[in-house]
Amino acid sequence: HGTSRINENGHLEIGGVDTVNLASKYGTPLYIYDVALIRERARSFKEAFEKMNVRAQVAYASKAFSSIAMFQLIDEEGLSLDVVSGGELYTAIASGFPASRIHLHGNNKSRAELKMALEQKVGCIVVDNFYEIELLAELTKEYSTKVPVLLRVTPGVEAHTHDYITTGQEDSKFGFGLLNGQIEQAIDRVLKIEGIHLLGIHCHIGSQIFDTAGFVLAAERVFAKIEEWKSEFSFIPEVVNLGGGFGIRYTEEDEPLPATYYVEQIVEAVKKQVSEMGIKMPEIWIEPGRSLVGDAGTTLYTIGSQKTVPNIREYVAIDGGMSDNIRPALYQAKYEAVLANRVNEKHEQPVSIAGKCCESGDMLIWDLPLPEVNPNDILAVFCTGAYGYSMANNYNRIPRPAVVFVENGEEQLVIKRESFEDLIVNDLPLKSKVIQN
Ligand code: LLP
Repeated sequence: HGTSRINENGHLEIGGVDTVNLASKYGTPLYIYDVALIRERARSFKEAFEKMNVRAQVAYASKAFSSIAMFQLIDEEGLSLDVVSGGELYTAIASGFPASRIHLHGNNKSRAELKMALEQKVGCIVVDNFYEIELLAELTKEYSTKVPVLLRVTPGVEAHTHDYITTGQEDSKFGFGLLNGQIEQAIDRVLKIEGIHLLGIHCHIGSQIFDTAGFVLAAERVFAKIEEWKSEFSFIPEVVNLGGGFGIRYTEEDEPLPATYYVEQIVEAVKKQVSEMGIKMPEIWIEPGRSLVGDAGTTLYTIGSQKTVPNIREYVAIDGGMSDNIRPALYQAKYEAVLANRVNEKHEQPVSIAGKCCESGDMLIWDLPLPEVNPNDILAVFCTGAYGYSMANNYNRIPRPAVVFVENGEEQLVIKRESFEDLIVNDLPLKSKVIQN
């Protein structure tokens, strides 16, 4: 898919660049992003809204993969940016991303993070809880302009996905209860605060969701409340943000809808309700992460040791693992992979791909059909673009990989590989070992 193909040498090529050459030039593990595919995904979201004649903002949920170059690409495509921490906000500002299109999220934003957002004049703050409302009430006193705010609600929708990544149900650490009176309390309070402009409502029901029913139900529940808010507070949201969570295909087992179909279904449902209520159509915002970058990312590894457990299993080890992709260990996530240097060769018996971390759970793929493998073969694991690099870590003091963008036959290093020196840069020796002059 995307710009991936098999070239004349039988190598995996992405964005017109031979991945085997990339592995030898930059080393492995290596993250590769198909930039054309990211652009295509971004444009199709925007076009879906345009076709339906709805004012919208598509914000990239940057937790999926953030870096200076990534943010610049998102800016080029005219999307907005959802950040959830001081670190993501700092990176966005450093990349030159216009603050007016940055939305700040988080269930425990610190005073410092909120100050940073106010100083930078971010486009909106998605307020999560009562503590945050009071922090903002205090902090905004120093500013002459009002900060635009969305209030996040938990609509009581259980999306069918992995438990860990379901966030819209009532018993959740995120947001104000939509159905238990909390949101009305929050609206009432916020409307009395001088420094806040209550722009609208936000909800996000979960991640890697395959059907539209959950989104539609959440939207219906939010809009069903608007009548009440209108009469009680004269508040009609100018913006309703319905979050992200559109599923993608990691393996053949996954059957996602085209991302734009989710948008169409959501907007149809909203339009219907709005016309029944006779109110002005609010702006619809969404914040996809995975569906913008997930299948645009591929990780290259070099194969090393192998172990046969007679009559049971063939283990093939790679030079990375849960340090660069924790998803299999954390969520039992499944991936597909090929030998990038011999894509056409026919499959022999299945092998299981082991990471190099000291942990039995560090298995990247179980029972993967591959041709007979040799040391130094290059394994390409697909669909690693979301929550791969962004959740990478230094477990076992393994340096984080490099990241390369490819497009139109050209490659560009966008994140350097960490060095051993980088790993000890914040370490300090024992006082007794420091030689005093
Ligand atoms: N908006 C909010 C408020 C979110 O919490 C999230 C994801 C998104 C948008 C983007 O969701 P997406 O379109 O990427 O599904 N680490 C997990 C996923 C955690 C998602 C957290 N929130 C994984 O690797 O699957």
